[in-house]
Amino acid sequence: MKITVVGTGYVGLVTGTCFAETGNFVTCVDIDEQKVCKMKEGIVPIYEPGLDIMFERNINEGRLTFTTKLEDAIEGAEVIFLALPTPPGADGAADLSFILKVAEQLGSLIKDYVVVIDKSTVPVGTAKKVRQKIAMNCNCEFDVVSNPEFLREGVAIEDFMKPDRVVIGTSSERAKKLMEKLYAPFVMQGNPIHIMDEESAELTKYAANAFLAMKISFMNEIANLCEKVGANVDMVRMGIGTDKRIGNRFLFAGVGYGGSCFPKDVKALVKTAKDNNYDFKILNAVEDINEIQKTIMIPKIKNFFKGNLMGKRIAIWGLAFKPNTDDIREAPALYIINSLLAEGTEIVAFDPEAMDNVKKIMGDRITFVDNQYDALLKADALVIVTEWPAFRTPDFPKMIQRMNAKVIFDGRNVFKTEQMKELGFHYESIGREKVTRDSKPGEKITISKDKIIEN
Ligand code: UDX
Repeated sequence: MKITVVGTGYVGLVTGTCFAETGNFVTCVDIDEQKVCKMKEGIVPIYEPGLDIMFERNINEGRLTFTTKLEDAIEGAEVIFLALPTPPGADGAADLSFILKVAEQLGSLIKDYVVVIDKSTVPVGTAKKVRQKIAMNCNCEFDVVSNPEFLREGVAIEDFMKPDRVVIGTSSERAKKLMEKLYAPFVMQGNPIHIMDEESAELTKYAANAFLAMKISFMNEIANLCEKVGANVDMVRMGIGTDKRIGNRFLFAGVGYGGSCFPKDVKALVKTAKDNNYDFKILNAVEDINEIQKTIMIPKIKNFFKGNLMGKRIAIWGLAFKPNTDDIREAPALYIINSLLAEGTEIVAFDPEAMDNVKKIMGDRITFVDNQYDALLKADALVIVTEWPAFRTPDFPKMIQRMNAKVIFDGRNVFKTEQMKELGFHYESIGREKVTRDSKPGEKITISKDKIIEN
């Protein structure tokens, strides 16, 4: 099949490359000339594990090409994917201007029947608006389909190649057949393709992300309660996660969710509800909880240093909003660092992929180092913000050798509390007992939120 993908951001690139991988001929179009030049040379503009190899292979085999010209890109195309940005406007609603502008252009360029597919996360009613825009200038038949993506950064290739499900919103038989043909190689193991009306498909995407965000905020509140009553959130997570109705995924407490999707989609769904005279109370709470959770570590750190952080040297492990990405959009690390800087601390940070992106916005307000151990030199405390695999089993003697004091604030619960006791760290995490420096292995520690530990 000949496919056009409009927009070579994260979603567009993964979509285009994966469709090329299954034998289609894909042309990706973007207005950014520099980016298109680089992609023609085989350079992937984003960090996504596994994408580079697939990208190069499909370019070399002639199935993946790039252009800046929309009219060239859509020549002979049977389907056109719109994978354009939908940034949140001031009122929280998704800004559709990029999508609608391209839809208008497509109207005068389409010459034969084609299916135009909304791949971006767009509010209910967008497919209708896209249809109207195309129809303004178009003389031939076309269909508009909603086909939301459910790609997680870091594992997007796997999510695309082996989706749990494919959601397609259309009432056109012709478009339905084409979409089923297109997705057949991806659902060969029996994963379902759900065909539904376009409004339901559009809402499904928001409902999925909002539900997942809700799971996280719920667990973060349970974690906060665990600290107060002396329970362990890991135990509670396992205890509830084995109930099939709840499921054991997305139940990890931490310093809140970030990224390009959850914060934006929760806001947009609240706005859609409001526009339809519905007060989506639970989602307002999900958002509020996440705001608090992003800096939940700050009072703990302050309390440990008896309220005075001035001049303290704090090491940060992890800047990306989650592991296996260089994405720092809405990353909790940014909120934590800004709060710590405001208290007069000196920050030394390390992240395997995201440092360049943070440098662009923080400049020399913080120090960046090339490896996780250098961040610890003379550090008064380490704060773990992103659970990169390399942080999970570090060389502890090397850490202790470098640090001023054995103090860790772990925002992602990467270490076991027993292990921290054995190593003699002062260790505070999320929803678990506080390990003080005089803790003994196996000793039961009672949590006292008022107790200030001597360093
Ligand atoms: C998400 C959705 O999962 C994906 O389906 C959608 O299409 C795009 O948005 P992504 O933003 O890449 O994907 O990240 P995801 O892995 O879902 O994590 C989102 C955030 O939740 C991260 O900040 C992560 O740290 C946090 N999280 C996740 C938790 O705090 N606890 C968990 O148990 C899981």
